[in-house]
Amino acid sequence: MTMNRNISLYETLGGDRSLRLIVEAFYPKVQAHPLLGPLFPEDINPVMEKQHMFLTQFFGGPTLFSDAFGHPMMRARHMPFEITPERAEAWLDCMNRALQEVGIEDELRQFVIERLSGPAHHFVNTPE
Ligand code: HEM
Repeated sequence: MTMNRNISLYETLGGDRSLRLIVEAFYPKVQAHPLLGPLFPEDINPVMEKQHMFLTQFFGGPTLFSDAFGHPMMRARHMPFEITPERAEAWLDCMNRALQEVGIEDELRQFVIERLSGPAHHFVNTPE
């Protein structure tokens, strides 16, 4: 992968279309995961929509999430849920498999997972 520092990770990943494919590959894995599935509502579409908006912004694309919902405060938004270190790892594993499924090349995939690993562990609010 050639890492062009002048373009965003959002663009490097392939922009809006690619972000949608990633989110669409990610949530079925989350729902099927024994540690994660039970935390999520049956109608996953609103969650997918918000995640698309958030990741777009997080990866340096348009600020869709903040424009719609204000300051992300992501740790606070996750407080109603018991997020254990094990669940953070499960979330990252689902994302890793989603990135693989949509064909994101290895080096870029690892870079994306590293970028998400900080927030995922920061959202932990419950011991194992
Ligand atoms: C660490 C493990 C994580 C778990 C177990 C988890 C779980 C959840 C749950 C249960 C919801 C609420 C779904 C609903 O009922 O609406 C949620 C919402 C959300 N999560 Fe996570 N999450 C994790 C990590 C992350 C990470 C790393 C990100 C992004 C970097 C993220 C982004 C979001 C967004 C954007 C929403 C929607 C927030 C809103 O309602 O405004 N989550 N998450």
